[in-house]
Amino acid sequence: MGLASFMASGRLRRRPHRLYRWLRRLDPVHESPIGIWVLSRHEDVSAALRHAGIGNDQTTVDVGAIKLFGPSGALGKRRGTLRAGGAFEQAVRQMMLFRDPPDHTRLRALVSRAFTPRRVEALEPRVRSILDELLEGPTRRGRIELMSELAYPLPARVICELLGVHNEDEALVIAQAPALAGGVDPLPMRSADAVTAADGAIKVLSDLLGELIEERRRAPGDDLLSALVQAEASGDALTHEELVATVALLLIAGHETTANLIGNGIHALLGQPEAFEQLRTEPGIERSAVEELLRHSGPVQMVGRVTLEEVSVAGASIPAGRIVVPLIPAANRDPAVFDHPDRLELRRSPNPHLAFGAGAHFCIGAPLARLEGRVVIPALCRRYPSLRLLERPVWRSSFTIRGLEALHLALR
Ligand code: HEM
Repeated sequence: MGLASFMASGRLRRRPHRLYRWLRRLDPVHESPIGIWVLSRHEDVSAALRHAGIGNDQTTVDVGAIKLFGPSGALGKRRGTLRAGGAFEQAVRQMMLFRDPPDHTRLRALVSRAFTPRRVEALEPRVRSILDELLEGPTRRGRIELMSELAYPLPARVICELLGVHNEDEALVIAQAPALAGGVDPLPMRSADAVTAADGAIKVLSDLLGELIEERRRAPGDDLLSALVQAEASGDALTHEELVATVALLLIAGHETTANLIGNGIHALLGQPEAFEQLRTEPGIERSAVEELLRHSGPVQMVGRVTLEEVSVAGASIPAGRIVVPLIPAANRDPAVFDHPDRLELRRSPNPHLAFGAGAHFCIGAPLARLEGRVVIPALCRRYPSLRLLERPVWRSSFTIRGLEALHLALR
């Protein structure tokens, strides 16, 4: 068993922790037969994420070493399409997440100037009022489909609010998010249809933002987009293409992730009623509870890395140009670091989880995700003490993000 069977089996992807345990114990630096290296121990995942010799730029991959792409590989024929360099691929090249220094350092510095903790904290009242608004109908009905009625719309609306997207454009911006997210699945798992859809979405976003960016250049407001337009460091600023790519990245990175933190978090709490009760009744537990839910049930399954040179991980030597996949949830349940790793301990301390990554690419939206998590998840437990599952939820068979298809809940 290994990554190849993980990729082939929807069932395994839905219940990955047995495989992770097996990998951690028996083959922590796994060289998959398809030529990808998979890391599962906390120590190795953490080291790889911080390693200067391991980068994020997928264009540096030695495709000849990846068996899936080889002449007889299952994806060999599709390679031309995947590498066609359409509008989305061009935007990806401008996204900090897929860049290495010095480009990454420059883009991240400019965005960090605009995406400040103060700006995020100021959003708290809006997060609460969006939550109240979205819960009105479900509260009347006494039931909710959590993913579509709350978990997805809330972070999407918060990002639009943060960026200062006009109310009338919000729906159009939000509608592009799934196609954009499909475009960033790891290369071997990305279909040609997904690439076409992502190309279309980036064009819609680019047209819409073109006008908005011009407007904010003329009359800056108090929103993130105005701050991004004005962001300047050492005489440098974001180009129009970089601005569009950054907004697309914020939409992708901040939407699916937060939605599935909310869904996975509530699902985990319903499976451990003592923890649910503790979150409902103990004041001041919100922050550590969200960290524990990120550790136990965080949405990001894996991140992609490429070795820039030959590197050594836990005694194994990985040649240059190879794809390395640090498995974040495997690291987050490593018993060498976390006692009783499968159990939710809402006051766990210390809690050095890697749900937001580590090193140079550590999640820039972590303060916003934490804010949304600590407002939404405790509120659901406290408002609806008899919250319970109406149907057994089904896990999606996606790769990068772990999340539920739907979560039907009774509120009373
Ligand atoms: C529970 C919610 C979230 C989780 C679990 C999460 C997780 C992550 C992880 C693991 C990374 C590192 C990826 C890598 O190393 O390759 C990352 C990066 C990033 N995240 Fe998040 N994220 C969340 C929410 C958000 C939000 C709300 C935003 C913004 C609105 C955001 C924006 C970003 C950006 C821009 C990056 C790239 C940073 C860089 O490349 O330097 N994320 N996130």
